[in-house]
Amino acid sequence: MLETVHVDLPGRAYDVLIGTGLLGDAGTHIAPLLKRARVVVISDETVAGLHLGALQDGLRGHGIDCAAMSLPAGEATKSWPHLMSCVDWLLDQKVERGDIVVALGGGVIGDLVGFAAAILRRGVRFVQMPTSLLAQVDSSVGGKTGINSRHGKNLIGAFHQPSLVLADVDLLGTLQPRDFLSGYGEVVKYGLLGDAAFFEWLEGQGPALAAGDVRARIEAVRRSVQMKADIVVRDETEQGDRALLNLGHTFGHALESATGYSSRLLHGEGVAVGCAMAFELSARLGLCSQEDPSRVRAHLRDMGMKTNLADIDGALPGPQALLALMGQDKKVVDGQLRFVLARGIGDAFVTSDVPAQTVLEVLRDG
Ligand code: GLY
Repeated sequence: MLETVHVDLPGRAYDVLIGTGLLGDAGTHIAPLLKRARVVVISDETVAGLHLGALQDGLRGHGIDCAAMSLPAGEATKSWPHLMSCVDWLLDQKVERGDIVVALGGGVIGDLVGFAAAILRRGVRFVQMPTSLLAQVDSSVGGKTGINSRHGKNLIGAFHQPSLVLADVDLLGTLQPRDFLSGYGEVVKYGLLGDAAFFEWLEGQGPALAAGDVRARIEAVRRSVQMKADIVVRDETEQGDRALLNLGHTFGHALESATGYSSRLLHGEGVAVGCAMAFELSARLGLCSQEDPSRVRAHLRDMGMKTNLADIDGALPGPQALLALMGQDKKVVDGQLRFVLARGIGDAFVTSDVPAQTVLEVLRDG
């Protein structure tokens, strides 16, 4: 079973292949891109332990030589020191302008390796092999690459589109249920922002998808990636429509910051709670009906996900402090908070015209 989404960016078009068995069969899809029968793979230690052997065996089976390096797993790897060791290793491997670098991992590896590829010899091509649901539906597609700074997340980076994305849904089977559901937060986001029929489909298929239904997983990843691809083609560098992909992120980032980017709240969990709050805010501003936030929360609850501030372990700062954390979001423009709000499920838009008092009320009521 193999689905293809084409990201039709002029001069930088590429395919996202979604299916099963892509790890072992990566050589078939990567070989046509190669100028010499050689790739380098960068992964993290956890993913490498699970999947690197199968990838290397498959590549070598296609006569493709394959050196690999593994970095520590975790967000701390998206940093200058690890970027430096990654770039130095690529140079040690004598990677040339025409070569391909493969990123095998979740969002951290995809972002870091993509950035390394963007700056190595002023840009080499790379292939994303996302291993988490979040990376398959979001971070591996669209060309945002980068690392974190002490000033905030993802503040150093470049737009650098991959040459190919291989999303093997078999790999989702090794995720912890909580990590899978965190990625599912981003899947729900797509339905909520632009496709009511997809949200309705998720309401029906979500439980089967979480339980491991491969067809449902492929379909959910395909529809998510298709929507992201359409938006990225319209607005690659986020001058307009791409900001819709930040539905739930203004609330979510403040909550992630308030919980210290720790295991108290995973990124996709913050996005899910943030989506519920964005719909609550939209309803209170009279933009959508009160049934919409209730329906969003009901689906998240059915999936066993966090829906409210009270679902987050431990104490949180008060509404004023959370609002201040929202103000530190990198997407603030001229000091104005930008929100993605909705006129209904599947109908989101971006606005800066939001009274702080209503935001505070939503935060107070959780
Ligand atoms: N993750 C949001 C974007 O790629 O624009």
